[in-house]
Amino acid sequence: MTLTLVKAWNAAKDRLKNVQIDQPAIDARLLLEVAADVTRTDIITDPYRVLTEAQMATLDDFLNRRARREPVSHIIGRKGFWKILLQVNKHVLTPRPETEVIVDEVLKAFPEQIPFNMLDLGVGSGTILLAVLAERPAAKGLGIDVSEEALAVARENAANLDLSGRVALLRGDWTNGLGDDSFDLVVSNPPYIATHVIETLEPEVRDHEPRLALDGGPDGLDAYRFLAGEILRVLKPGAMFAVEIGYDQSEAVETLFREAGAQNVRTIKDLSVNDRVVTGTK
Ligand SMILES: C[S@@+](CC[C@H](N)C(=O)[O-])C[C@H]1O[C@@H](n2cnc3c(N)ncnc32)[C@H](O)[C@@H]1O
Repeated sequence: MTLTLVKAWNAAKDRLKNVQIDQPAIDARLLLEVAADVTRTDIITDPYRVLTEAQMATLDDFLNRRARREPVSHIIGRKGFWKILLQVNKHVLTPRPETEVIVDEVLKAFPEQIPFNMLDLGVGSGTILLAVLAERPAAKGLGIDVSEEALAVARENAANLDLSGRVALLRGDWTNGLGDDSFDLVVSNPPYIATHVIETLEPEVRDHEPRLALDGGPDGLDAYRFLAGEILRVLKPGAMFAVEIGYDQSEAVETLFREAGAQNVRTIKDLSVNDRVVTGTK
């Protein structure tokens, strides 16, 4: 049997739709691109290109995995974020578009040629740190994560983006071990989902993303309780912080930062108009 790109895409779409995958057309295209080693443009401009046996087998395997609700990013091993492409696997949170709000805010605050030293707490795959450094050639940064497996992914991403020379990636429990170091900017997207809520999430998240990246304790706020004071401690006077929050955590997280002595504390919404980032200064 021969299968062309257009037929493969349509069949893949139908198969994913039949198992109630949310965005079958997009997922089918992303999986086909990697399985058949083609671009989105190839699928449109060269729809009758024939897949090899090996490509068909790969696509079939990808579709079986997706039908079992494995996230597309895990199957293809990569995810676009801001202007960079990141390698991802089951040890890191898949970068989310909401997190781009932090990058946007940081880039507005730090003009292109200004040197600055940033800290990313819970760096994961390198999402925020690498997206910022890729756009700010005079900046350097430190990323900390408690997961050695996540740090391995971040290191690979830093190398792929040619950023290893400006990035340090260290294993640590938040700021414990930082000593007297201080920073011009601190960012964090800590785990912030309440433990009991995790079981209610879609299987892609509940069964495939690391608990360490999700679980924020009984009310989701455990990490901020520790981080608010610590972020203020390691910031230089007048310097900025930005942390991602859950849609209903603005008031609680703003209060924690104000109580820790932060100034100019405010919440920024994401493109879905949900509260998403709390920022302020020391
Ligand atoms: C929500 S994920 C964010 C990852 C990445 N910054 C992003 O935005 O895609 C939270 C990260 O915090 C890390 N983490 C959890 N507890 C930690 C701790 N005690 N110290 C350092 N990192 C921690 C997790 O391993 C995970 O990589």
